[in-house]
Amino acid sequence: MSKVMRQSLSFTRCNSNSISRNTMSRIPTFLVLPQRQHSTSTQLAKKSSWTHPIYTQQQVLAVQTAHRKASSWQDKVALSTVRVLRWGMDFVTGYNSYSPTSNFELKARPMTEQKWITRFIFLESVAGVPGMVAGMLRHLKSIRMMRRDYGWIETLLEEAYNERMHLLTFLKLAEPSWTMRFMVLGAQCVFFSGFSLAYLISPQICHRFVGYLEEEAVITYSKAIKDFDDGHLPLWQNLEAPKMAIKYWQMPENNRCMRSLLLCIRADEANHRDVNHTLGNLNQTDPNPFSAKSKIQNALSQLQESDRGRSGR
Ligand SMILES: [Fe+2]
Ligand SMILES: [Fe+2]
Repeated sequence: MSKVMRQSLSFTRCNSNSISRNTMSRIPTFLVLPQRQHSTSTQLAKKSSWTHPIYTQQQVLAVQTAHRKASSWQDKVALSTVRVLRWGMDFVTGYNSYSPTSNFELKARPMTEQKWITRFIFLESVAGVPGMVAGMLRHLKSIRMMRRDYGWIETLLEEAYNERMHLLTFLKLAEPSWTMRFMVLGAQCVFFSGFSLAYLISPQICHRFVGYLEEEAVITYSKAIKDFDDGHLPLWQNLEAPKMAIKYWQMPENNRCMRSLLLCIRADEANHRDVNHTLGNLNQTDPNPFSAKSKIQNALSQLQESDRGRSGR
């Protein structure tokens, strides 16, 4: 091993402050990271690649459950698959909410805080897969075909990141059992393989499938919020959202309770629902209307229109 490589390795193992100036001067420049001028947590949060937009109270409260009617055979395939998966997930997580039924037997086994968390962890561990698979496959296709992607990859990877943040947030509230970890592992193996294959065959059906899956996610979080409001989740009544959630959603000081957290996550799921149903309507070479570039162009054209409106008065 050359002298320079040995010095480089020792640099990675220890704090740069403990390295003498003489040693630093001999490290190749490409190995030295630029010094951070500002390192407050707020500034670092702003520098995050996928800083979450701040939801207003009106925005999170305006979210509603919705269903896109399955008209084509592709829609019906996607919806049927989601319904089968939903049944499996209900069975695995022992799901019975107070809200949708007055059935006596279900009321005898209500959803507790622990049951909700178990369900959320399993749901989010599955939900983080499609965006990553779709983003990865489009990335590889773009390289393979040597052509642009039309702005889809960023949105898809951002969705996967967002779902993983949901999962990590719930992991701050409960420690999953080994049984749960094993189920997540099994589900990931099956779902990752199946979804990858399906996406190679028909991306449209896959986005429709995710759209229907997200419809179910919005319903699930709406029921959890209703259980909370009806007083069935007493352990969460005075519980503050985990610190990482407060930072990620940039939750204001007076809105950091569990209810606010569930509202934020439900708003994310509604966004995934709308994005995926829209992507399911598009051809693969259509530009992504949710890309940062499209959003800026839309905002600019809206500004131009309002300017024209003002000058025309
Ligand atoms: Fe999620
Ligand atoms: Fe989602």
